[in-house]
Amino acid sequence: MAVASAKGAPANGSVALQVFRGDPAGGAEERFEVPMQEGMVVLDAIHYIQAHFAPDLACRWNCKAAKCGSCSAEVNGRPRLMCKTRVDEFDGEIHVWPMKAFPLIKDLVTDVSWNYKVNREIPPFRPSPNEAVPYRMAAEDVERIYEFRKCIECFLCQDVCHVLRNHDDKSLYYGPRYMVRIAGLEMHPLDTQRRTGLLHGKAGVGMCNITKCCQEVCPEHIKITDNAIIPLKERTATDSYDPIAWVARKIRGGVPPEPEAAAIPGFVPKAGVQRFAVQDVVRLRARGRPLARVGRVLADGWLEVWVLQMGGVTQRWRGPKTVRATDIVSNYGPLDDVGIGSKIRDQD
Ligand code: SF4
Ligand code: SF4
Ligand code: FES
Repeated sequence: MAVASAKGAPANGSVALQVFRGDPAGGAEERFEVPMQEGMVVLDAIHYIQAHFAPDLACRWNCKAAKCGSCSAEVNGRPRLMCKTRVDEFDGEIHVWPMKAFPLIKDLVTDVSWNYKVNREIPPFRPSPNEAVPYRMAAEDVERIYEFRKCIECFLCQDVCHVLRNHDDKSLYYGPRYMVRIAGLEMHPLDTQRRTGLLHGKAGVGMCNITKCCQEVCPEHIKITDNAIIPLKERTATDSYDPIAWVARKIRGGVPPEPEAAAIPGFVPKAGVQRFAVQDVVRLRARGRPLARVGRVLADGWLEVWVLQMGGVTQRWRGPKTVRATDIVSNYGPLDDVGIGSKIRDQD
């Protein structure tokens, strides 16, 4: 089998790739030709390039079996696993780029650590302390949450989601991968933790406009929008706005509140009132609801809160008013999730 040159038109039986090479300072596509093999996938071609033309080409991979979720990239503009994408699917050159939604480290490798930080913010599985062990579940309940447990954390859905991809600000939405994780917890029949406050607040389930782009790229074929996000939106709306559900919860009782500030590991109160940034005002006005920011953390579980007051073309921050930290915690999730200086709705 002849090895094609790295420049010029593809030789017979070879495939041409335009691979992004660069780092945060800049970069461009570089053209390579590799000999075609039966069943070849894009990751094979990248390995060939590393072995024969560019040993310093950076790419992340582990299993080559579509199970570790490491080899995510954009192939001809679409988020794909390189190990699951056959080169004979394409006519002409194949363009391979790193995921756009995350900061570039080098070549095809991006820094996806933001996802792990978000993951740590989600309250974990919490069964009732009186639940009999071993746990028993109906087969249909197992079936329902099994879908969410298939996630391989490739972050292709995060990459395609326009909320994360097109806005240089990930503070609005946790993204579809974490809606899948929260759905797996919320729909678990033995879980007793409420997460709708977090969803309504920092997790930002309301930011999703159900375009379903995420579920189209999921290599595990998880129905992210249909089976995770839409039910979570419904639960959040019921918990946040349905007065009958609120009364029923009060009567029924026994649902543990979301974690309190004092229980959040690593929570360090910050001194000094934080001021808003102009971009916050623009974003908050666009969302069309009263906004507030947390200022100082006071003694005995009280917080200073500044409320945004809009008047024609002017706006100013009114405050501080004092609210109980637990009010924020139960409405918007753990205080560490809300974040000092983050946006919260007025507690009036
Ligand atoms: S359906 Fe929602 S989560 Fe999925 S890509 Fe669209 S906006 Fe993002
Ligand atoms: S939900 Fe699908 S696309 Fe998103 S991280 Fe999990 S496996 Fe990847
Ligand atoms: S190398 Fe593991 S998913 Fe592609």
